[in-house]
Formats: sequence, C-alpha cells, structure tokens
Amino acid sequence: MAVLKVAKLGASVLRGRASEIETHDLKKGRLRGFFEDMTETMAEYNGTGLAAPQVATPLRVVLYEVHAQHRGGLVVPPTFLVNPSIEVLDATEDEDLEACLSVPFLAAKVPRPRKIRVRGLDLRGKPLDFVAEDFHARVVLHESDHLDGVVYLDRVRDRASIRYTIDF
Ligand code: NI
Repeated sequence: MAVLKVAKLGASVLRGRASEIETHDLKKGRLRGFFEDMTETMAEYNGTGLAAPQVATPLRVVLYEVHAQHRGGLVVPPTFLVNPSIEVLDATEDEDLEACLSVPFLAAKVPRPRKIRVRGLDLRGKPLDFVAEDFHARVVLHESDHLDGVVYLDRVRDRASIRYTIDF
C-alpha cells in the first residue's frame, strides 16, 4: 500500500473527463491495489472523500465516508462508488461549506441539491442503487464532479464565502 500524491488545482488531470471502469476488471480484482492506495491516501490526509483523478488516475471511481460529527449525525462507512450516475430527486438547494484536498487551505459555500439517487457499482462490480440526502448527497456530488473535471469552486455562487481555513 502507498500514500499517493494528491493533484492540486491547476493539474490537467483534475480538469478532464475520467474513463468508465469495466465491470470485469472489478470482478477480477484488477484494481484492488489501487483501491487500497486510495483508502490509505484518504486516511493520511483526513479527507471525507477522494476521487481517482485527484491521485492522477483518470478513472470513474470515488471513495468517501461520512463521520458522525457531520451535520445530521449520519454515518456512512468508507464506500467506493464506481461509474456513478446521479439523478436529482429534490432540486431544492442547500448551501454549505466545502473543501477539497486538491484545493488546500480554502473553503467556500456551495449550493447542492438536497436529495439524489445514486447508481453505480461497488468495488467488486456489484450494482449499487441508493438515495442520499443532505451532507451525504453533498459528498457524493462533490466527488462525482471530480470525474467530470469539475471542482467545487466552479459551483460557488456566493464568491464572498470563499475563505482560508488556516491562519497564516
Ligand atoms: Ni474534492
């Protein structure tokens, strides 16, 4: 296992469209080592989520987890989501602060739909189909955006909400 280098804003890998992963590659475990490295990397940097393009691998897979300390107290264990597709179920937008390992030291308010349906595959190639709301939906949307070359700053409406998260 290895902690991977995280691509920072300005890297072209963050701005491209990532490629679909073949189900048979998942079933044969061909990406197992990479998934372990993603797990280790997210833990090392205390990330809530990590998308493969953030570690310079343009594939459609994200990893995320939701801890109890986040709003709502919902807990989602570390979850891999491969080839995610998202359907908005409730387009009502909430605004909340987001940050990103690829955009260090910054946070900003981002509007996101409140409720989504997520379809995709798990890391073994089994279908996933679930509904995510509130902070869980926000995390899935943020990470899935990375697969299409979008970072949260692109979605900021209230630009005055962009702030540093550290004191210089
Ligand atoms: Ni991010």
